[in-house]
Amino acid sequence: MHHFQVKKGELYAEGVPVSQLAATYGTPLYVYSAATISDHFDRLTHALAPLDHLICYALKANSNLAVLNLLAQRGSGFDLVSGGELTRVQRAGGDATKCSFAGVGKTRAEIEQALAANVYVFNVESIAELEFIDRIAGEKKLRAPVAIRVNPNVDASTHSKITTGTYENKFGIAFEEIGALYARAARLKNLRLLGVQMHIGSQITEVKPFVKAIKKMLPLVQDLKTRHHIEFFDIGGGLGIVYDPALASGQSAWWNQQKTPPLTPATYAASVVPLLQPLGLRILVEPGRFMVGNAGILVTEVLYVKKTGQKTFVIVDAAMNDLIRPAFYESYHEIVPLKQKRSGGKLVSSDLVGPICESGDYFCKDRPLPAQKPGDRLALLSAGAYGFVMASNYNTRPRAAEVLVEGAKHRVVRERETVDDLLRGESV
Ligand code: LLP
Repeated sequence: MHHFQVKKGELYAEGVPVSQLAATYGTPLYVYSAATISDHFDRLTHALAPLDHLICYALKANSNLAVLNLLAQRGSGFDLVSGGELTRVQRAGGDATKCSFAGVGKTRAEIEQALAANVYVFNVESIAELEFIDRIAGEKKLRAPVAIRVNPNVDASTHSKITTGTYENKFGIAFEEIGALYARAARLKNLRLLGVQMHIGSQITEVKPFVKAIKKMLPLVQDLKTRHHIEFFDIGGGLGIVYDPALASGQSAWWNQQKTPPLTPATYAASVVPLLQPLGLRILVEPGRFMVGNAGILVTEVLYVKKTGQKTFVIVDAAMNDLIRPAFYESYHEIVPLKQKRSGGKLVSSDLVGPICESGDYFCKDRPLPAQKPGDRLALLSAGAYGFVMASNYNTRPRAAEVLVEGAKHRVVRERETVDDLLRGESV
């Protein structure tokens, strides 16, 4: 569900034609829909209402201050992975006491910053980290709230680069070692054992892996509650979104084989809430992509069309430095012209590519697209998560501007970078 719709042949972001935004702010341009983000937060909140729960939005997916502020206003907590992300949450008006601090490599400075900010919990990923946090908390005469990240060794059936919950991955501590580790942690005087956490992977499009992991964890969680009086169970993020509507509408061969409806907050909750409710614990969830993925698009303009033998290359002004997902994960993003041509225009099998000097710099290959010409503009949909945040300055390309649309209103929430911004701090 999102608020980017084609009306009378023209793509709109809520009440605003996207072509107007491109003309005003230039391209490449990230455009976010505030209503979509709010809807997603509200739908998940509603679905999880039977549980005492806290949504900790994983801001690694999109950490623009305006996006964080929208969610903070709705009462969201945050799952963060660096001192920088904690500063962002604070600048955006978020509540540090609703933050979980995750990640395998927290530094001393970050741990000190998070203790001073009074974060809700540290999600700890190794014994060495547990002892380090205990030591730092002791120096400050504090007790640090911790949860241990369990690796449940459940395959999330997703892309190998975003699977996290098997013993192949660097994340968490092996399921079998957890009981003994909590007993050891309980002897560390400067820690409070507040909860237990897991996260099995990202872009999970069916409920089965979540259910399997939760079922495996339940006896352990119950035991930790009895022995150590933990107050929460954090079931992680990972809710997948629809990138290819052909899959979701049942048109593709793949879909016919899968026969699984897309994961929604309601279907997710229908399976997990009954398992979790009897625990009588607070439940934390850490969705990133679900909240913002379909709430953002990347707008780009066609520079050239180049035909070579069998191929048509549509060269646009956005590149893999702006949106790396297709290059990195072979991911699919729907491509929609901002203004649709009159009917009858035939589709041309096209590679949409950027100006960067890498063969991996493409957004799609051999995809039927309406014929393009220089100056035409296109939108790459579902680019709100892991889009701008993974952008780089490769080829000394300034990063795109970001715009937030709310109804008929729109404003820049991050200015386009300049080459001077990029050179700051460098010297000959
Ligand atoms: N919690 C933890 C501990 C995580 O590692 C992640 C994501 C999340 C929550 C949020 O997961 P989500 O709800 O967004 O699936 N760059 C990749 C995705 C990397 C995910 C990393 N961890 C992509 O573009 O698909």
